[in-house]
Amino acid sequence: MRIRTIDWSKGAIKIIDQTRLPREFKYIYIKSLKELWQAIKVMQVRGAPALGAAAGLGVYLGIKDLKTDSAARLKKELDRVISYIGSSRPTAKNLFWGLERMRKVFLLHKDKPVAKIKDYLLKEARQIMEEDRVACRNIGRYGAKLINRKDTILTICNAGILATIDYGTALGVIYRAYEEGKDPKVFSCETRPMLQGARLTTWELNKLGVDVTMICDSMAATLMQQGRISKVITGADRIAANGDTANKIGTFNLAVLSKYHGIPFYIAAPESTFDLKIKSGKSIHIEERGRKEMTELFFRHPIAPAGVKVFNPAFDVTPHDLISAIITDKGVIRPPYIKNIRKIILK
Ligand code: MRU
Repeated sequence: MRIRTIDWSKGAIKIIDQTRLPREFKYIYIKSLKELWQAIKVMQVRGAPALGAAAGLGVYLGIKDLKTDSAARLKKELDRVISYIGSSRPTAKNLFWGLERMRKVFLLHKDKPVAKIKDYLLKEARQIMEEDRVACRNIGRYGAKLINRKDTILTICNAGILATIDYGTALGVIYRAYEEGKDPKVFSCETRPMLQGARLTTWELNKLGVDVTMICDSMAATLMQQGRISKVITGADRIAANGDTANKIGTFNLAVLSKYHGIPFYIAAPESTFDLKIKSGKSIHIEERGRKEMTELFFRHPIAPAGVKVFNPAFDVTPHDLISAIITDKGVIRPPYIKNIRKIILK
């Protein structure tokens, strides 16, 4: 199955509208910056690496029609576009990494004619996507070495094709193990409140023929207690220099449960998810989202009394000492993370 989550096509950003899945598979074309901001906010496009690609393409989309011969004027617009896209969602490092890559390309070529600078910016946005395709396959290759035949792997949220360009990080490891004939089985947490596990992870694993069973998030402990989980693998939105990792809310719960049950707990992420400027997870800005996601979005009728107070953090931070290893595109990083992250990521 060939699915591509995001691309540049017909002068627009082409994405799978993930809010329609699993009931409908539909590409939409984003033609304005405002539409892109909205698409990121409501999660038509989501997942850290896909957001990095959206950032790159978004910067190009935002400046491509600017009518000027002045690089200074272009720079002003580029800065505006970058901070606008950056205001959409705060947690995934990849979004800001993608934006900064675009800024760097501008600075590198700022003395060239504006038309040429625009070409370089589109080239860079395409390069970000190509690099992700390679990075995810490398994560898959390194990660699959940790998977035994017939392992049963628990995951949360969606860190697959739909969260990247076309392969996945945590699910990339599972796809590679599957391609190697290891016959992995997957349990997917539904991932309240936005149900990325139920709607997206089960959808893509099903399409690729990987055995998947969906559970409610609260069922993970029971499965582990019954000895039915051999590994946990999740993606990441931001990894601090000490290995503390922000990922979808509920990831921390799984890490604590894994420790209690002696189950290896792995994070899979590309280099672009690492934020070596922050010492620990304490500095990670956790997005809080709207109440309706919890009280009514996926239900025929509201499931909570009108006006009930809600707390809806989209991510949590798993302390590094609960993580058995971080599977990256540059290799598998083991503790002590403070030393080994730098050694592998900066090599
Ligand atoms: O809110 P989302 O759906 O963007 O959250 C996504 C996740 O938490 C993923 O696990 C993470 O971005 C890694 S995707 C390869």
